[in-house]
Amino acid sequence: MKNELKMTISADIANDSFVRSSVAAFCLPLDPTLDGIEDIKTVVSEAFTNSVVHGYDNDKSKKVDLYVCLEGCQLEIIVEDRGCGIADVDKAMQPFFTTKPEQERSGMGFTLMSTFMDGIKVTSEVGKGTRVCMTKKIVEAKHA
Ligand SMILES: Nc1ncnc2c1ncn2[C@@H]1O[C@H](COP(=O)(O)OP(=O)(O)OP(=O)(O)O)[C@@H](O)[C@H]1O
Ligand SMILES: [Mg+2]
Repeated sequence: MKNELKMTISADIANDSFVRSSVAAFCLPLDPTLDGIEDIKTVVSEAFTNSVVHGYDNDKSKKVDLYVCLEGCQLEIIVEDRGCGIADVDKAMQPFFTTKPEQERSGMGFTLMSTFMDGIKVTSEVGKGTRVCMTKKIVEAKHA
């Protein structure tokens, strides 16, 4: 059976800790390992931060949509904004690529998401927004 979470939240960086903790809490019934929980928190935080900082340029009046689905041991997380979009997704996903080096961004967000999850799909259109869909098979702690 599917268990789903949908949330729409203001694009305020102060909401980052609520977003990452609530998604992690939603996944707890699956009994992921502590490492697994940390990985989930990290990828949610990276995607949410990207929507706030890049997609909306920190405009707190904008909204970020999150969708989480658990089905069996399969986890799907979607983070979506209707912000500025990405001109070249392949380029943006390369390690160390950042358009905000002056803010001491390291360009490692997408690399972390790709590393910690089994799959990542980014769809984006300039002027329309960005959708990051990530999937992962969760390992139960007692089997890890
Ligand atoms: N939601 C988004 N909307 C618009 N542009 C984005 C979005 N997410 C990522 N980008 C673009 O992709 C680039 C790479 O993102 P990535 O998360 O890998 O690095 P970063 O955010 O620049 O640095 P870091 O995540 O290490 O702080 C960003 O610099 C930005 O240009
Ligand atoms: Mg980032």
